[in-house]
Order: sequence, then C-alpha cells, then structure tokens
Amino acid sequence: MTDGGRMDLHDALHWRYAVKAFAPGVRDDAALDRALEAARLAPSSFGLQPWRIVLVEDAATRTALAARSYGQSKVETAGHLAVFAILDPVTEAHIDAHVARLAGARGMDAAAQAKQRDRIARTVLTYKDADARRAWACAQCYLGLGVFLAACATEGLDACPMEGFEVAAYDDILGLADAGLAAVVAVALGRRAADDPEAAEGKLRPPASELIRRVGQASTPDR
Ligand SMILES: Cc1cc2nc3c(=O)[nH]c(=O)nc-3n(C[C@H](O)[C@H](O)[C@H](O)COP(=O)(O)O)c2cc1C
Repeated sequence: MTDGGRMDLHDALHWRYAVKAFAPGVRDDAALDRALEAARLAPSSFGLQPWRIVLVEDAATRTALAARSYGQSKVETAGHLAVFAILDPVTEAHIDAHVARLAGARGMDAAAQAKQRDRIARTVLTYKDADARRAWACAQCYLGLGVFLAACATEGLDACPMEGFEVAAYDDILGLADAGLAAVVAVALGRRAADDPEAAEGKLRPPASELIRRVGQASTPDR
C-alpha cells in the first residue's frame, strides 16, 4: 500500500481477481468515485469517449437485472453495479459537442474547428458502416473498462467484469435505447466475501515470453 492506502499498480493487479461472491451490500463510494474519474481520463480515439457508465443504484432494478444475468447473483448482492454502454449510434451531435469542448479549451478559430470536425466525422462516421461504428465504440469502451478495473484495484475496490447477461434485457430494463445507448459490459463492485472460493484460484496468465514478441535488436545510441 502507498499514498492514502492506494496500491502500486503491479501489486494491485496481483491483488485483484474477478470476484464471484461479494460481501452483501458493502460499498465504498470514495473509491468508486476515484475509479470513475480514472475511466473518464482513459485514452480514446480523439478523446471522444463514445461510451457511458450507468450506475444502477436501486434494489428493484438490480433484482430485475440479476434475473437476466444467467444466475449471477452478484449483480444484486455486490455493493455497486456499473454498466458500461456504448453510444449507439455515435452521431454528428456527439462530434459537434466534442469539437465545441475542444475549441473552448484550446481556443480554436472557426476554420480549425471545421477542419477538426471533418477529420473526426470522416474517421468515425463516413468511413464506417453501422456495425463498424459499433465495433469501434466497443473498442473504446473496453479501454475505459480496463483503466476502470485497474483503478478499482489500486483503490482496493473489488470488482467483477461481466459479459454474462442478456444484453437486450439490460437495454430494456435500463431504458438504454431511448438514451441512445447499448449495454456492453457490466461490473459488480464492492468487497470480496471472506469465503469466496475464487480467491484461492491464483493468477493464471500466459507467460511474458508468449505475450511479448520483440522484433529486431535495439541499437545502442552513439555517445
Ligand atoms: C470482458 C470480460 C467479461 C467477463 N465476464 C464475466 C462474467 O460474466 N462472469 C464472471 O464471473 N466473470 C467474468 N469475467 C471474469 C474473467 O473470467 C476473469 O477476469 C478471468 O478469468 C481472469 O481471471 P482474474 O480476472 O480473476 O484474474 C469477465 C472478464 C472480462 C474481462
């Protein structure tokens, strides 16, 4: 543990695991707020963040979602539930709002704004059909998820990412389509139960020799 009880990233990645059983209802709002802020700061194409995080606070909705989550009771029992959803569709209005923010923050003139707007619109809208746009938004969304999960870990907030739910049912229960959103992945959050059997499983990943390929040999700069 370091500053303010926060863990170093590597320690945190060893500490975290996808929790199966949560201590019922245990919340940590301060840790969650910090992890949400980390997700907000995650990299994304053009900084557009074409996704939203839906925090589901009320018990009745959590119960309804749990019933459409292939028996994953943690949807209901964990302290918090977050649903990552993509903008579906990404629209010109999203791009306009983003460029307006950029212009405000960076003092761009009208010509620079128009140029930037066209550049983003071409990449995100013109060159992609609806499926490719969704795939692009999902890629950005998972990057946000990754940063969020890493931040949860450094905060000591337990989490379980979940794709195991009925997407259409989540969209329906949370009214996501009406909000121009589509559910992608949920995260149960809180504290691991003392008797969660998953805790003993240990971290299992491919070795670095398999994951990381080096091409060529770095040259030593002349001095
Ligand atoms: C995108 C994604 C979806 C996942 N969906 C589920 C899920 O629905 N239910 C579950 O219990 N675990 C789920 N997991 C957890 C993984 O099974 C787990 O992260 C993986 O086995 C590696 O183990 P560890 O995270 O505990 O180290 C998911 C993980 C990711 C990244």
